[in-house]
Amino acid sequence: MNVHYTRNSLQIAIREAKLRGETIGFVPTMGALHEGHLSLVRTAFEQTDTVVVSIFVNPTQFNNPADLAHYPRMLDEDMTLLNDLGNVLIFAPTTAEIYPENDPFKAIDLEGMDAVLEGEFRPGHFKGVVHVVYNLFKIVEPDKAFFGRKDFQQVAIIQKMVEVLDLVVEIVPCETTRSESGLALSSRNLRLSNEELEAALIIFQTLQFIRSLQPHKTPKEAQQAAVDFFNKGALKLEYLAIVDSQSLKELNDEWSDEATCCIAAHCGEVRLIDNMQF
Ligand code: PAF
Repeated sequence: MNVHYTRNSLQIAIREAKLRGETIGFVPTMGALHEGHLSLVRTAFEQTDTVVVSIFVNPTQFNNPADLAHYPRMLDEDMTLLNDLGNVLIFAPTTAEIYPENDPFKAIDLEGMDAVLEGEFRPGHFKGVVHVVYNLFKIVEPDKAFFGRKDFQQVAIIQKMVEVLDLVVEIVPCETTRSESGLALSSRNLRLSNEELEAALIIFQTLQFIRSLQPHKTPKEAQQAAVDFFNKGALKLEYLAIVDSQSLKELNDEWSDEATCCIAAHCGEVRLIDNMQF
């Protein structure tokens, strides 16, 4: 199996692939891989020759120590799943490999994009994400990097980072993978009981409800009706916002060409997020 635990070892393998004229695709993950991740890897194989998958539970993006402690870790299973997909270069670094003493990263101004939605409830989260993704990009130097749209705000912020720092990598957003009943796949779903899995469907149902309201209501009216609809379920809502997909600014009176509804809620002990673009 092609597993690399150090930057040096991974970079040697990437250099060899580049010398063979191959393009490099990159799928950053925190492990506990599910079908959503695997679909990103399959897309990466369709668009690039060599695919690197990193598995690193990044401590700097967890504002809640309990969430970090409970985050599922299952490297052996992850490696087996990846191996079935083809010749993936797996990068499973230690924290010291990702954050060396001569860390190349300099904080950038995200122009408030990190202060809204997830940013409001998870202070510092996106600073941690930007930092780790930047350092990973510096190590892997991919031609294309693949991110799931489930983390809608993360994709927008990574695209912003690439623009601000003028990085030569193409960001490829990929559709959210859902269970048959509509629940967005997430590593955190592993911590839900059967009852909670059932209750969590209210998230997708609410997103569909908003879609059905869109032709008749303003974003503000749709948002209010959707909060009432959501609150009939058993989850505890953290936020439900309809925003412009580019600026992440909340929409009130008019729908923009690309509007996205984002939801974050607690299902028992587990915090779930999802979104839908209209
Ligand atoms: O989406 C994730 O799993 C993480 O935020 C990422 C992009 C791997 C950075 O740690």
